[in-house]
Amino acid sequence: MKGTVNYELRGDIAVLEVDNPPVNPLSSGVRVGLCDQFDKANNDENVRGIVLKGAGNAFIAGADISEFGQKMEGPDLHTALKNIEYSEKPVVAAINGPALGGGLETALCCNYRIATEKSIVGLPEVNLGLLPGAGGTQRLPRIVGPSQALKIMLSGVPVPAKKALDQGILDSISTGDLVEDAISFLHKKLDETTEHPKVRDLNEKLVEARGNENVMAEAKALASKSRKGQFAPGQIIKCVEAAIEEDDFDAGMKKESDLFLECLLHPQREAMIHIFFGERTAGKILDVPKDTETQKIGSAGVVGSGTMGGGIAMNFANAGIPVIVLDQDEKNLERGIGVIEKNYQMMVDRGRLSQEMKDGVMSLITPSLNYEDLGDCDIVVEAVYENLELKQEIFKKLDDVVKGDAILASNTSGLDIDAISSVTERPDKVVGTHFFSPANIMRLLEIVRGEKTSKETLATIMKLGKVIKKAAVMSLNAPGFIGNRMLYGYTHQANMLLLEGALPNQVDTALESFGMNMGPFRMFDLVGLDLGWRARKLAKLETPLTNKIADALCEQERFGQKNGKGFYNYSDGSRAPNPAPENEEIYVKVAEENGFTRRDISDEEIVDRCILGLVNEGAKILEEGVAQRSSDMDIVYINGYGFPIWRGGPMFYANSIGLDKVLEKINKFAEKDEDFWKPADLLVAMANNGGKFADAPTDDLKKEKLAFKQEVKY
Ligand code: 3HC
Repeated sequence: MKGTVNYELRGDIAVLEVDNPPVNPLSSGVRVGLCDQFDKANNDENVRGIVLKGAGNAFIAGADISEFGQKMEGPDLHTALKNIEYSEKPVVAAINGPALGGGLETALCCNYRIATEKSIVGLPEVNLGLLPGAGGTQRLPRIVGPSQALKIMLSGVPVPAKKALDQGILDSISTGDLVEDAISFLHKKLDETTEHPKVRDLNEKLVEARGNENVMAEAKALASKSRKGQFAPGQIIKCVEAAIEEDDFDAGMKKESDLFLECLLHPQREAMIHIFFGERTAGKILDVPKDTETQKIGSAGVVGSGTMGGGIAMNFANAGIPVIVLDQDEKNLERGIGVIEKNYQMMVDRGRLSQEMKDGVMSLITPSLNYEDLGDCDIVVEAVYENLELKQEIFKKLDDVVKGDAILASNTSGLDIDAISSVTERPDKVVGTHFFSPANIMRLLEIVRGEKTSKETLATIMKLGKVIKKAAVMSLNAPGFIGNRMLYGYTHQANMLLLEGALPNQVDTALESFGMNMGPFRMFDLVGLDLGWRARKLAKLETPLTNKIADALCEQERFGQKNGKGFYNYSDGSRAPNPAPENEEIYVKVAEENGFTRRDISDEEIVDRCILGLVNEGAKILEEGVAQRSSDMDIVYINGYGFPIWRGGPMFYANSIGLDKVLEKINKFAEKDEDFWKPADLLVAMANNGGKFADAPTDDLKKEKLAFKQEVKY
């Protein structure tokens, strides 16, 4: 059994410590320990009260997520928590770090809660496709009121200690020795009273909310806006409804248990837990040992003050890392810093940042026109536009002026990192960092491993990814890396469907109903149709079949959102797309010119072709070792390309419908387009032996293909 609970007697107080490194989840051994040690303390006549804390830097990170869907060992969580709630001796939760999910629910069963200043509390179960199933939906509304509780549970965002104190979740904050403070707190209460409060007995805030329809209406609006397509939010709302309507606490608990079970059995739960672990696994590089030494990143530089450079600089400043933003042009630099300032101001205006915090982050950002100023930076990220010669020139300069052990990173979305590192004397310190736009908001960070990038550099950059709160995924240095290469399969199919008879609105609606954040044609309009068209004109290149319609639209000066017309029409600078029936003539004409007979296409075919286009390319990427594992591609697609988290990412989705079925569909599509739909060898192998992408022997594949990929040039 995993985990334990330690017992220590300090005078007349028993200090129980949940010990299950690194973050003390409530695994089977902890549940046994809670039952046994609470019994022990209650049976010891020398004990007057109990303090419950976590070992190390966390209080309790919740239920053990790896146990969901497995056979349960030991007592269930409800049994363990009953022992706390019905303890004969008063209990203080001494919250020494994150108290999340079942962790906060445990603390809510204690009579009192005291925390360190840096602790956080929250109920993030919704991020796992679950609801707080150990009384959280019934107890939290009793403290903070249903409306606030719903906000906490539906967002899943933890509450910092100070705010939790204001909201009444905590009774006190300790600024000294937490356990000593908790013991003193308990002694005071023992001297004052024999009646120690239980959250389950508080009813005032629920009675107040009874009959107030706004509470539920607001929660439903919040869930449909921020958690589209997800199952758990509706269940959470029903639980709180029950808390308000039922007079009896235990009846509310019964409702919560029933609805929790439904979440547990729902396919979204497995998909979202796959993403929870996938994100943590992505940080591990197969041939880089866990104990690899990392460099300290205490200062940073960014070359280029455009949209990307500014966003990247904000990431460093947000993490408390001073950053120098360099541009060669004074006006650009001024404008760039102005944009950063405006972004922060917007956060202040929306109440997401205090003025004091804004001043703090802005003070960490220093503009510069001089390369010499970057000399002492621990890392410099180049973020100029995509031009290999320009990037090489900058890297040569950086190599000269920046201290020898600093890391030099290129924010490229597709250039050859080896070609960039080759101009430096430190190719081992060169790495690609592909941020997604807007870089201060998007969570995805593709880390591109060059042939000579050292293990120390990789370990450092993966750690930095975590510090700046990104979902970092490593890709080998190969065309398109992971994300854009997979995207090709998706957009190619969307454009083919348009030639074959579908309309942009139909394609977008089908894919948005599947759960994609934005359909491909809305995305093309947002990016601008003219970029490729202009580049092709300039280079006198022929238009590929799949771009023929977009180029024809550009010839009619339909460039996308930027000039109010593209695949859609946009009125008065609005981003809302309106169908553009006038384009249909162009679609028909281009289709005919290229030998297509347009036909009715079902939504099912649209979704299958676009999504399986992604999946097949993903299988090839895995086979070549460009990605380390299939879950890395799921993390890329969810965090960078708007794939619905509740489907677990494209590769998980393919596993869930069955790789044999996927192959069958691909083979059928191949009857019409053999070149595009050549199934990946890995997919064929996995489908034929009933496997899943997650079982792919990545180690072997990687070694074999690493050499192959190094030969690829751009
Ligand atoms: N169960 C099992 N393992 C967990 C876990 C949990 N609740 N929380 C974290 N871990 C594991 C991680 O997988 C990771 O394992 P690894 O080292 O093998 O990769 C390790 O603990 C460390 O986790 P992080 O890398 O995330 O550590 P951080 O220090 O960055 O973050 C944290 C700590 C903020 C506590 C973060 O881990 C976290 O948010 N955990 C999940 C919290 C959560 O969602 N709780 C709800 C669980 S469901 C529940 O409680 C149901 C209940 O209502 C019945």
